[in-house]
Amino acid sequence: MSDAMIKTIKGFADLFPPESTAFTHMETLARRIFGSNGYGELRTPLLERTELFCRSIGTETDVVQKEMYTFPDRKDRSLTLRPEATAGVMRAYLESGLYGSQSVTKLYTFGPMFRYERPQKGRMRQFHQINCECLGAQGPHTDAEVITMLMTFLGELGIAHLELHLNSLGCAKCRPQYRKVLYDYLRSLDTSALCEDCKRRMETNPLRVLDCKVPTCKEHTEKAPTLLEHNCPECRSHYDMVTSLLRAVGIDWVQDNRLVRGLDYYCRTTFEVVSGSIGAQSSVAGGGRYDGLIKSLGGPDIAGIGFACGMERLALLLPEQAAVRPDFFVVCVDATARDAAFLLANRLRKAGFSGDLSHAGTSFKGQMRQAGKCLARHALIIGPDEVANQSVVVKNLDENRQETVNTADIVAYFAQFSEI
Ligand code: HAM
Repeated sequence: MSDAMIKTIKGFADLFPPESTAFTHMETLARRIFGSNGYGELRTPLLERTELFCRSIGTETDVVQKEMYTFPDRKDRSLTLRPEATAGVMRAYLESGLYGSQSVTKLYTFGPMFRYERPQKGRMRQFHQINCECLGAQGPHTDAEVITMLMTFLGELGIAHLELHLNSLGCAKCRPQYRKVLYDYLRSLDTSALCEDCKRRMETNPLRVLDCKVPTCKEHTEKAPTLLEHNCPECRSHYDMVTSLLRAVGIDWVQDNRLVRGLDYYCRTTFEVVSGSIGAQSSVAGGGRYDGLIKSLGGPDIAGIGFACGMERLALLLPEQAAVRPDFFVVCVDATARDAAFLLANRLRKAGFSGDLSHAGTSFKGQMRQAGKCLARHALIIGPDEVANQSVVVKNLDENRQETVNTADIVAYFAQFSEI
């Protein structure tokens, strides 16, 4: 490849079939399942003011500190490529005033997100999320509904061996108390055994020490007091109700006392879906409740809960899809049949059948090979005789038999197969 050739940016990828087909499949399924739960689609801009992410995700988080694509525009305003969807959805919800006309708003969004992380399997700098937010509902039934919808979606995708991790982060009342208990506990340890990040986090956001992936940090903080033990009675009964509703609909979960999530807006129920089959980047979906977020962005005190799935990670786990087979492939015996071939393909496609014809002007043999390669069910062969008789030879490629059909009858001929 010549040096002059321009390549993609590190961590950014082009999506060709079959991966792009897998993405379309996930989006179609998500639209159906989320739609049947009362959700509608929202599309927000990829660029937002930087302040939106600082205020919602939290200035002390890794996402804001190290991972955002932030730059000044031509008028020196600081803009950021969205690292996640929730902040933009909240901005749009507030700006539109939707909360004034709807008591509960359910929105989903798909699209690319941008984080400057070290790329590896399942971790990209531009990645795609399927994201859901339910705004205006405070009770535990909403948490259970949101989690059930996520698990239904993942189940219908056919992904096996997923584990749902749950925890409760408490609320503005009980979490500060827990934070202090945890801080005191961490101070009582020999902190020199903690990694450099944890030494810093201990002072800025001690809860993040709990989800450090460094084995020695994990071991060292093994006996840390748990959030759940320090939930206030309201948070605890909310969480107990969520787990009992999940039990009632047959969803298994594991209690994960170290699940604190990397974004600052969460409270109460938080969750992650983890796969053991895709290596280090094992979290395929994550979410939780964020009751104070809308207020902190200058809006009314409205509750919210949601989740996002990482589409690249789901694509790694999808079972192989049965290939989509076209109905026909038109084969020209020689160049005199090309007009007739074009018209025939056009007529069948207009009638709802799928298929193709060679645009490369290859030999008859080459075209037949192409028909087999694209898994077409029928080869439609046209030569000078067929053009003269206004007919076509239909070769069934599965059964290796053929017959001649009048061009005028071709749509009816194909219709008999689709009726079977
Ligand atoms: P998050 O846990 O940061 O949550 O991301 C959700 C999912 O996005 C992850 O579980 C993972 O599958 C995928 N993901 C994250 N970063 C990358 C990456 N660099 N490459 C590939 N996939 C990635 C959020 O973004 C929250 N906004 C979710 C939410 C919605 N909470 C409430 N509502």
